[in-house]
Amino acid sequence: MATKDLILSIDQGTTSTRAIAFTSGGDAVATAQKALPQIYPADGWVEHDPEEIWSATVEVCRKVLGEVGTERVGAIGITNQRETTVLWDRKTGKPIHNAIVWQDRRGAPLCKKLIEAGHEPTIQRKTGLLIDSYFSATKIAWLLENVAGAKARAEKGELAFGTIDSFLLWRLTGGKVHATDITNACRTMLFDIHNKAWDADLLKLFGVPPSLLPEVKPNAGVFGTSETSGIGVALPIAGMAGDQQAAVIGQACLKPGMIKSTYGTGCFALLNTGNEAKPSQNRLLTTIAYQLGDRFAYAVEGSIFVAGAAVQWLRDGLKLFQEAGDTDSLAKSASNTSNVYLVPAFTGLGAPYWDPEARGAILGLTRDTGIAEVVRSALEAVCYQTQDLMAAMSADGGTRPTALRVDGGMARNDWVLQFLADILQLPVERPHVTETTALGAAFCAGLGSGMIADVAAIEKTWRPDRRFEPKMAAAERDRRYAGWQDAVRRIRHGAK
Ligand code: G3P
Repeated sequence: MATKDLILSIDQGTTSTRAIAFTSGGDAVATAQKALPQIYPADGWVEHDPEEIWSATVEVCRKVLGEVGTERVGAIGITNQRETTVLWDRKTGKPIHNAIVWQDRRGAPLCKKLIEAGHEPTIQRKTGLLIDSYFSATKIAWLLENVAGAKARAEKGELAFGTIDSFLLWRLTGGKVHATDITNACRTMLFDIHNKAWDADLLKLFGVPPSLLPEVKPNAGVFGTSETSGIGVALPIAGMAGDQQAAVIGQACLKPGMIKSTYGTGCFALLNTGNEAKPSQNRLLTTIAYQLGDRFAYAVEGSIFVAGAAVQWLRDGLKLFQEAGDTDSLAKSASNTSNVYLVPAFTGLGAPYWDPEARGAILGLTRDTGIAEVVRSALEAVCYQTQDLMAAMSADGGTRPTALRVDGGMARNDWVLQFLADILQLPVERPHVTETTALGAAFCAGLGSGMIADVAAIEKTWRPDRRFEPKMAAAERDRRYAGWQDAVRRIRHGAK
């Protein structure tokens, strides 16, 4: 019999669905990927078709399993775009509406009402989150109010709610398991991160019947077994985690004080705070980083809605270049004296501003501004936004980390990482595996299935590919960052 030496990781992200087979030592041996179409029904609204997500998942999994040989795979891990909300019929498994994506702003009016009614301090104390349409609660409330018959059916127990992890688990197990993991649960705005349970008062506040909710489990452990009718093979689904928390695990940021930042569609920086759920005075989020056996940690999170999405917009919307990889050489060729600032507030601004009304702008254009300068300003914006988060973290009294571990698509761009180190005035480290999200899910499944012995084994797998040291003179760095802060101020005033 062949040895089961591989773990199949499903990474269902905002813009693509991927399957990667990893060894338990963290090496990727096969990958398949499918782009996910975005649906924009109205200004600030973003949806996905859950059936498209499911069929892409089946397709990429079958492809990777075919490539490596099913008999070598011992477990499945799932990681996902967080907060994105699906309601489906428990009998048929059919979604009652498209998934409402985390970036979607349709919950903003309800959020405004709740903030005005004074609910924010209690919600922040219980969930660690700020009231924002980013989280699942107002998305569920919208679906229950706006899809014909949904409320009554939910009250009768006919519907199920899930973030994408939960929806995929349901489909993979042929409707046998309705569960989520603790890192996804804590992004719904319905979960008490201290008691580690759904909160009855919040369920009432958002009008969510408890029967809608999945069971909440730790990140590592068997959630269920896949049905052969889906991906073609029965395997234990032995780990699940929201993508940003999976990246914390994949980056082995498993000790308090360690921090990672992932540059995907958005950018999410998570600082491990160990057993302490640290409330933020500076509009960051307190969230659960992981529960892996007896290892449990909270994190402080800064969430930026647009990072790679700005590059995608320049490429696909404005057609300024062909490949994301071209941005490196374009940025290098840009004039150093240019003072162009691009504020990518396409769907408002996330941490630490939380301004759903803000919209994007390019400022500081002169007659000699060209494509290279605009592209560079988009890359710079990602670095300035990371500095906004780091400044909020240090204002919250956190000890300054010794380095920032980075990953995600943009982390392949050397120019970005050097500029990031310069603006943060902190060393930036890129690991040898930059697919840390998928890797983190594989590690969870490895622990959950016994293919990986313990957390210490995960820590040993991390090694740097390259470290970027800050080089820019402090005065120059301060001048540039002050220009960014001014640009943000201007677009926020413009929105009011
Ligand atoms: O909170 C949203 C986040 O999980 C989405 O991540 O990688 O799809 O941009 P990504």
